[in-house]
Amino acid sequence: MSHTIAILGGGNLGTALAKGLLASQQFELKDIILTDKRGHRINYLKEKGFNVSDNNAQAVRQAKIVVMSVKPQQFHDLAEEIKDYITDKQIIVSTITGITLREIENSIGKVPLFRVMPNTALSICESMTCIASKNCNAEQEKMITSMFDKMGKTLKISEDMMSAATVVGACGIAFALRFMRAMSQGGIEIGFNSEMSQLITAQTVKGAAMLIIETDNHPEREIDKVTTPQGITISGLNEMEHQGLSSAVIRGLVTSYDKLEKLAAKDNKL
Ligand SMILES: NC(=O)c1ccc[n+]([C@@H]2O[C@H](COP(=O)([O-])OP(=O)(O)OC[C@H]3O[C@@H](n4cnc5c(N)ncnc54)[C@H](OP(=O)(O)O)[C@@H]3O)[C@@H](O)[C@H]2O)c1
Repeated sequence: MSHTIAILGGGNLGTALAKGLLASQQFELKDIILTDKRGHRINYLKEKGFNVSDNNAQAVRQAKIVVMSVKPQQFHDLAEEIKDYITDKQIIVSTITGITLREIENSIGKVPLFRVMPNTALSICESMTCIASKNCNAEQEKMITSMFDKMGKTLKISEDMMSAATVVGACGIAFALRFMRAMSQGGIEIGFNSEMSQLITAQTVKGAAMLIIETDNHPEREIDKVTTPQGITISGLNEMEHQGLSSAVIRGLVTSYDKLEKLAAKDNKL
């Protein structure tokens, strides 16, 4: 792409996005501008070689694509700062959890809008990104979908599924990593040092994910292939289930979802 992208909010996700855009060779450093408000974050991003500014209005004026990536409670201030500089020739992409397309339109105007839910694996082009949009033509849809396709996989969803997408796709990174930490700690208890255990865990989990991605098989079908009757795998697996593994994971997801929906309902009442 030969235009500029402004990423407003150079935090964890904004920086992961900038890294992913570079790693996927879609943008060069000169085409990306990140903004932030904190001096130490600005310095950190400058040290990484990025163009950084604390002036959102200026960044927006230069950009064809404007990504809003601040915390939900910071959305209104950011929208106030930039709304007078946005035109309908630009495309707005929001990663902000819980802020709807209608809220963005009400604050910024009737411009092409995307609400996306990626995860931090954007930085290594392995994100899962769910996308909903408003006021966009086919060309704009194609442009933004293809931008995220190059940084992992994308799924177009209706906006009412965005909370579910947040929990499974974005929080899901933390859920999967906590499982990996537990597996790695178990590996240490039975004899590996932490580096070895982490390597075996990470490559094994990656292999399990790739088996599902490449074959489209249900996980249980792959589990069947490694669980011999009266064998060691089924004994361990059943013990994990007795201790509530599946139940804990499902309950964790539902708890996150309920909390997100409760927060959204509270915001809508304000
Ligand atoms: N992290 C994830 O995995 C993930 C995944 C999907 C979606 N999201 C969503 O994406 C958004 C960003 O997440 P994050 O994890 O990157 O949050 P974050 O690390 O807190 O990053 C937001 C950054 O924006 C800065 N900021 C605040 N107001 C600003 C303004 N007016 N102009 C420019 N910068 C401003 C913040 O500074 P201060 O800290 O000083 O306020 C902070 O450095 C959130 O809404 C989050 O829910 C995150």
